[in-house]
Amino acid sequence: MARSGEGRKTPALTLPKKRGVSRAVPLPGRRIHPGNVVHRARPRGYRRLVHQWQRPETAAAWEASGGAGLPTRAAQQELLLALLHESRVGDGSVLDAGVGSGLVAEAVLETLPRAELVGVDFSPPMLDLARDRLRRFGSRARLCSGDLSRPAEIELPRRRYGAVFSVQTLHHLDDTEKAAAFAWMAGLVDPGGLVVVIDRVRVEEALFADWQVAWRRVDPAASGTYADHVAGLAEAGDRPATLGDQLDWMKAAGLAACCLHLYGNRAMLVGRKTR
Ligand SMILES: C[S@@+](CC[C@H](N)C(=O)[O-])C[C@H]1O[C@@H](n2cnc3c(N)ncnc32)[C@H](O)[C@@H]1O
Repeated sequence: MARSGEGRKTPALTLPKKRGVSRAVPLPGRRIHPGNVVHRARPRGYRRLVHQWQRPETAAAWEASGGAGLPTRAAQQELLLALLHESRVGDGSVLDAGVGSGLVAEAVLETLPRAELVGVDFSPPMLDLARDRLRRFGSRARLCSGDLSRPAEIELPRRRYGAVFSVQTLHHLDDTEKAAAFAWMAGLVDPGGLVVVIDRVRVEEALFADWQVAWRRVDPAASGTYADHVAGLAEAGDRPATLGDQLDWMKAAGLAACCLHLYGNRAMLVGRKTR
C-alpha cells in the first residue's frame, strides 16, 4: 500500500514498483517540493494514472475502503449534504464531478429526495459500481463517461444544475486542468448556484512538520519525511494545489468563494455563482 506521509493508505492507486513508476524528481538545482516536482514524462504518467483507475482491482479496492481511510471525509461529506439540503435544489439537478463508485452520490440522492443527479467519471469499473449502487434511484441518477481534464468534450444531459460538487477527484488534474475544471463547473450552475469541492490542498515544505503535528491528531500513524510525502503523491498521481490557488480559480470563474472547512490538508471549498 502506498503511504502519503500521513499514515493514509491509498489502495486505489498503489502502483507496481517494478514498472518504472514516475517518481518525484527535483528540477535541476532545486529541492523536492510539490511545486517543482517533475512527473517524469507527464503524459505517460497521466496515462498510467488513467490506467490505474480503469483497473477493476483499483475500483474494487476503493469500494472496499469506502473512503474510510480519510479521517476528514465524514465531517466534510456531512457539511456538503447540509449545504445541498439548504440550497433548495428541489426537483432540480446536481452534478457529481468524479462520481467514482457513487458513495457520495448515493448520500446526496437520499438527502435530496426529488432531485436528479448526474455523475461523471472516466473509469468504467468505477461507473459500473456506481450504476449498481444507484440503480434503486431509477431515472433520478444518470451516469456519464467523461474526462475532467477535457471538460469541453464531456457530453452531459442538457440541463442546468442547481449545484455541482466534486469529492477527492480534482487533485488528479494538473493546475491548468484544475482551473479549467473549476470554470466548467461554475459554467454549469445557474446564478446563485452552488459549487462545492472537497479535496486535498498542498502542504508546503516549511510547514510540513507543523502539518504532521495536526494530522497525527486524526491519524496517529502519520509519519515520514517531506520527501516521502512528495514521493507518495507522485506515486499515487496526486497533484494537490494550494488553497489560495484553488480559491483564486473559483473566483476567476465568477464564484464568490471561501473555504468553509479545513483540517490539515483537506479542504472544503464552497462557491456561489454571482454572475
Ligand atoms: C478517490 S475517487 C473519489 C470518488 C468519489 N468522488 C468519492 O468521493 O467517493 C476519485 C475518482 O476520480 C476519478 N477521476 C480521476 N481523474 C479523473 C478525470 N480526469 N476525469 C474523470 N474522473 C476522474 C477516478 O476514476 C475516481 O473514480
